[in-house]
Amino acid sequence: MNERMEQIKQEILKGIEESATSRATAFELRKKFLDSKTGEISGLMKEMRNIAPEERADFGKKVNELKEWAMNVFTELDEKMKEKELKARYESEKIDVTMPAKEFESGNLHPITQMRNQLIDVFGSMGFEIYEGTEIENDYYNFTALNIPKDHPARDMQDTFFLSPEFLLRTQTSSGQIHVMENKKPPIKILSPGKVFRSDDDATHSPMFTQMEGLVVDEKITLCDLKGMLDVFVQKIYGENTTTRLRPSYFPFTEPSVEVDVSCFECGGKGCKLCKGTGWIEILGAGVVNKKVLENCGIDSEKYSGLAFGIGIERTAMLKYGINNIKLLFESDVKVLKQISDN
Ligand code: DAH
Repeated sequence: MNERMEQIKQEILKGIEESATSRATAFELRKKFLDSKTGEISGLMKEMRNIAPEERADFGKKVNELKEWAMNVFTELDEKMKEKELKARYESEKIDVTMPAKEFESGNLHPITQMRNQLIDVFGSMGFEIYEGTEIENDYYNFTALNIPKDHPARDMQDTFFLSPEFLLRTQTSSGQIHVMENKKPPIKILSPGKVFRSDDDATHSPMFTQMEGLVVDEKITLCDLKGMLDVFVQKIYGENTTTRLRPSYFPFTEPSVEVDVSCFECGGKGCKLCKGTGWIEILGAGVVNKKVLENCGIDSEKYSGLAFGIGIERTAMLKYGINNIKLLFESDVKVLKQISDN
């Protein structure tokens, strides 16, 4: 029996050397010898009854010693394997902090969306609310209510896509003014951004473009309020040192009407290529809301007055980002769009 015990010891040592390469294989080996039912050492205990009674105590002691030895050996082995596996895991998960970082391509908003958001921020901070109208309008909202009756020559100012004699693709966001004034009593302070359509196509015009209409109606609104708001607008968009200049103009829905210039942000007003030597750049049309338009919407023109302005978003963006062809904004060439960002 002693021989058998010695043999088991050797088998354990050999087994460890040959097959214990992981915690799992070490565990299997441990089971082979130490499992309480099927293990070889437990098997020795069952031999007890074949041992002469006077030798039993000694045999039992030796088996227990062997068992204890084996348990220690396997516990130690398990620790070793655990350490080995942990080390391998650390090794495989190691991060080389000196490696160059992976470059992630991050997109940016389309320049028109950026410009639109900036305008909304600027006017939003002055208390304007957003009204988004519809792109299909009828003749009344796009023209007649804005004091441009049928056969009025001002209709030729905008080459219109008619869908039927009655319906058309809106040529201006000014139509939003009428919807708002029909549905809301003064004080009114709205901003109406959106797509507009005109049969027009060259380097600075596209059949579809975007505008942002502004409308304020309240008691005692004057051209001074307009000038004050537009000064804030140009300073935020084109720089702190810019200002505006109002020139007389004509729009049927405003009286008086003005064309608004911004002082050239490229040369500071001295005269350069961008401002064609004048020191000023035309940016938008505006005016005091024509009394007829207020009345068309049921607003008392004796009590209330209003101001309105219409900003071309593409034009504002082209000036700000130095883009000379409006098509660049619509071709979606990622190489171009990537360069046009404030971020
Ligand atoms: N609707 C005009 C256009 O598309 C722009 C405009 C001019 C809007 C003067 C206004 C305004 O509200 O007062 O050309």
